[in-house]
Amino acid sequence: MARIPIAAGNWKMNGTNAEARALCRGLAGIDAIAGVDVVLSPSFTQLLLVWDFWCGTDVHIAGQNMHTQPSGAFTGEVSPVQLAEVADWVVLGHSERRQFFCEDDQALALKLRAAEAYGLTPILCVGESEAEQENNRTKAVLTRQVSLALGDAPAPAGLVIAYEPVWAIGTGKAASPDEAESACGHIRSVVAETVGSEAAEGVRILYGGSVNPGNIAEFMAQPDVDGALVGGASLQADAFLAITQAIAAST
Ligand code: PGA
Repeated sequence: MARIPIAAGNWKMNGTNAEARALCRGLAGIDAIAGVDVVLSPSFTQLLLVWDFWCGTDVHIAGQNMHTQPSGAFTGEVSPVQLAEVADWVVLGHSERRQFFCEDDQALALKLRAAEAYGLTPILCVGESEAEQENNRTKAVLTRQVSLALGDAPAPAGLVIAYEPVWAIGTGKAASPDEAESACGHIRSVVAETVGSEAAEGVRILYGGSVNPGNIAEFMAQPDVDGALVGGASLQADAFLAITQAIAAST
């Protein structure tokens, strides 16, 4: 089964509305690149304008987090119902959320189901820390993160998983293509064991961590890497366009 690759830009907590608009303008034409699904993930305050900007195109818009409940007394949170008005995808369990905001595998299992219930395509982020990598714990960590998030229910429709080793995020020290393939292949095998081989064949697995226009092609040459989740380089329109073109060209 051919998996359409994904170019996803995680803007994190960056930019004013004016800067978000300028970035969108700089990405003009990205929606016309064939053979790749483009996803942009701005801050909550930028979502409406980015959603409106790309309205009527194939560009997908993702929240960077989400609560599980549709409404209620959860000050400071954004519900899946609210998010679905200005986004069609959602990034869940980014390592910065796990590290700084105490998100754990159990919470993510609930968020994954909430995304499914409200029609948001989830990008579930997983990845080991530097200490875990040094102690050869990478596969064990990925097994735990993926299997606990998925649980024993069928995989959410359109599930995307991003492998982002924590030590590679924002450091300029990307994983090697072999490391990325080994981890992404392992994630696919855990999906197969947890929810079945058909879901594993269909799930799109992204590599993330210091991706740039110069290294994307070698990640895309790996059989289990179906695209990239890009942080820093996604804030530069030219770099993200080049990455997206390289991803499209890899198919
Ligand atoms: P980076 O971030 O590309 O800046 O390393 C990736 C991410 O955190 O998604």
